[in-house]
Amino acid sequence: MPVRPVDLTAKKILITGPTGQVALPVVEQLSKVADVTALARFRQLEDRQKIEAMGATVFAADLADASSLQALASDFDYVLNFAVVKSGDFEYDLAANAEGVGNLMMQCKNVRAFLHFSSTAVYEYGGQEPRKEDAPLGDNHRAMFPTYSIAKIAAETVCRFVAHQHNIPTTIARLSVPYGDNGGWPYFHLLMMQQGIPIEIHPEQPNYYNLLHVDDYLEKIPYLLAAATKEVTTTNFGGSEKTSIEEWCAYMAELTGFQPVFQQNPKAFGSLCLDTSKMHELIGETSVDWRQGIKRQITALAPELLKPQ
Ligand SMILES: NC(=O)c1ccc[n+]([C@@H]2O[C@H](COP(=O)([O-])OP(=O)(O)OC[C@H]3O[C@@H](n4cnc5c(N)ncnc54)[C@H](OP(=O)(O)O)[C@@H]3O)[C@@H](O)[C@H]2O)c1
Repeated sequence: MPVRPVDLTAKKILITGPTGQVALPVVEQLSKVADVTALARFRQLEDRQKIEAMGATVFAADLADASSLQALASDFDYVLNFAVVKSGDFEYDLAANAEGVGNLMMQCKNVRAFLHFSSTAVYEYGGQEPRKEDAPLGDNHRAMFPTYSIAKIAAETVCRFVAHQHNIPTTIARLSVPYGDNGGWPYFHLLMMQQGIPIEIHPEQPNYYNLLHVDDYLEKIPYLLAAATKEVTTTNFGGSEKTSIEEWCAYMAELTGFQPVFQQNPKAFGSLCLDTSKMHELIGETSVDWRQGIKRQITALAPELLKPQ
């Protein structure tokens, strides 16, 4: 039986990384019902304005710099930590991503639950075997983002350490491939297909993933918060149905007429599909069919690319 979701209505919620692809729809939705503070560096004025227009309070800080968090309130009910940086500079990326989550938790020790978003990029490449939460970790995304996997593994470790030291109910959710009407990996693939740019895939095909639609992650966040424990709950977080780069590109080709050009590269990420048993037990199944999600995405972002039906 899945946990009972928490009620976020009128709660005081801190969301980090609010301007990012994944968190922006969360800020938009939660700002309508809760008291949301959005934390990022906010180097661009338009980012700040966009978030304020959604009704959230903006707090500018760099998670790598603990002193920039000193003026942050410490009475949040819930924290959703989406912030991530992949500058390629190990010193900064480890400070912002790994020490950053520690800095944040130290400032928000009294939360009812802390939800840290990690990534399936923490898993070592392991062929098409669905990855369980205890599968070996590794430097999966090195080829494209040199610091990313290591920084995400380090961030999980700091997160667990601070949760254990201060008894903070915490969930670590390892995201697969989030996407929706505001973008995501399949949309990049569509643009590459349109321009005839080769899409790199691992030679062990198909390259499986668990696309996670924004509607599903919005629905599941209150469950992930309810699943938080002081021992720290770590769970995969993706769509219940696995699919593959090859399948979603073929479907986008059907919808648009643009054909994918695949280029095999043994250094490409490779399959990262999930064992969803623990996730289903905690938060239940997702509901958006990936084909419908992809069609919706193209309709929202580039309707002119759809072939007349
Ligand atoms: N997108 C995916 O396909 C995917 C897949 C798996 C997991 N995830 C995970 O999902 C979460 C969100 O990813 P995303 O793709 O939405 O990220 P994103 O688009 O790169 O956005 C990153 C966010 O973090 C903020 N940020 C960066 N450095 C910061 C710092 N030093 N201090 C404070 N804020 C900082 C950025 O704002 P400023 O630049 O203004 O600070 C921005 O709001 C991450 O934890 C990521 O690992 C994403």
